[in-house]
Amino acid sequence: MRKPIIAGNWKMNKSVAESISLAKELKENLRNVEGREVVVCPPFTSLFPVAEELRGTKITLGAQNLFAAESGAYTGEISPSMLKEIGVLYCIIGHSERRRYFKEDNSLVNQKAKFALNLEMKPIICIGETLEQREKNLTFSVIKQQISGVLDGLSTSELANIVIAYEPIWAIGTGKTATPEQAEEVHSFIRKEVFALYEEEMASSLRIQYGGSVKPGNVASLMQKEDIDGALVGGAALSADSFSKIVQY
Ligand code: 13P
Repeated sequence: MRKPIIAGNWKMNKSVAESISLAKELKENLRNVEGREVVVCPPFTSLFPVAEELRGTKITLGAQNLFAAESGAYTGEISPSMLKEIGVLYCIIGHSERRRYFKEDNSLVNQKAKFALNLEMKPIICIGETLEQREKNLTFSVIKQQISGVLDGLSTSELANIVIAYEPIWAIGTGKTATPEQAEEVHSFIRKEVFALYEEEMASSLRIQYGGSVKPGNVASLMQKEDIDGALVGGAALSADSFSKIVQY
C-alpha cells in the first residue's frame, strides 16, 4: 500500500529563529505520528539548523530547489550533494512558482530530477494547469505533456523514488481548493499516464500528492480519494498547529 506523504513547503518564509521554533513545535506535536511520512521544506538558510533540530525524529527534511550540476561556476545555486551532506532527503522540483518566476520548464525539471536521483535524493516533482488552461479544457493535455516531459528517460527503479505533486495553479494560495472529485479526476489520469509509460505495478505504487489551499478542514476529504496519497502544503504549513492537524487528518 502507498504510505501517505504530507509535506510542508515553507516557500520564502521564516527566519532561522522562526524555523527552529516551528521545527521544535512540530517535533513535539508529531512525536507519536504513525503510518505517514512527514516532510518539511524550509528555505535554504534554515535547512541546516532545522536538520539539527529534527535529528532522530521521524520528520524528514526537504529542499525547495536544487541545481542540476555537481559543483562549479553557478553563482547563487545549490547542488544536490550540498543538500545531501546536511541530511536533505527530498527536494521539491519544478514548483509552479519556479516555472513562473524563473522560467523552469519540463526539460529542466527532468534534468534536476535526474541529478537528485543520482545522489539518492527523492524528487517531489510538481505539475499542474493554470486557470486559463482549465477553462479551455486543456487540463489533461497539459498534464499529459508535463508527465512525459518530467519523467523522460527515468528508469523504472528511479520512478520508485519519485513523488508527483499535482498542484493546480489556480488553487495555490487562493483559498480555492480543488474539490476532492476534481483532484481525483486528475490524479487517476496521472496514474494512467504513468501506467502507459511504465508498468502497472510501478504506476500503482507511485505516490501522488495534491497541493493547493490544503487546510485542516479539507485534507480528510481529499485523502479519502483512491489516487490521492498525500498533500503538499504551503500557507497552512507555516503554523505548527495547522500543519500538525493536517498531518493527523
Ligand atoms: P498553498 O497551500 O498556500 O495554497 O500552497 C500550495 C503550494 O504551492 C505548496 O507547494
